[in-house]
Amino acid sequence: MRIAVYPGSFDPITLGHMDVIRRATEVFDRVIVAVVVNPRKSSAHSGQERVDVILEAVREAGLDTQDRVQAIAFEGLTVDLARAAGARHIVRGLRAISDFDVELQMSQLNRRMAPDLDTLVFMTGAEHGHLSSSFVREIASLGGDVSGMVPGAAIRMLRRTDQR
Ligand code: PNS
Repeated sequence: MRIAVYPGSFDPITLGHMDVIRRATEVFDRVIVAVVVNPRKSSAHSGQERVDVILEAVREAGLDTQDRVQAIAFEGLTVDLARAAGARHIVRGLRAISDFDVELQMSQLNRRMAPDLDTLVFMTGAEHGHLSSSFVREIASLGGDVSGMVPGAAIRMLRRTDQR
């Protein structure tokens, strides 16, 4: 079985991330979306909240059949998670040249730590290239409309956050 891990903050998941998940399911039998929880960094939403939103969005998009897409929260190195899950690939999305340096560096560091793993990068579609989770959070917190940028489940989570 071809398994890939797609790590990220996903705070919240955007339609750009969803597009990468969908395209990755065309290449891999199973895609594990891994919500990275970093105890040294504060995040707007807990790991579990982000996982729940991803699972709901994956269901709404009809990508949940036959366990093709899983979502988990994890703390630690992506390469350790990938090995434990039996994955040979890490999936990432690349929006613009500004993403390139850090993605190249991460893929090379991951390859150095785990030469048996490779990173597969999906070029973001033009319709999603300008999306970022942090701007979505800012727009939502200032009362802007983020429909068309994130899945419905993420909109509901952002609304709940505003009411806290
Ligand atoms: O969505 P992001 O914030 O761009 O994702 C970055 C992420 C989570 C993929 C990266 O920080 C990561 O892999 N963190 C897990 C810890 C790790 O493996 N660090 C070494 C990376 S070379």
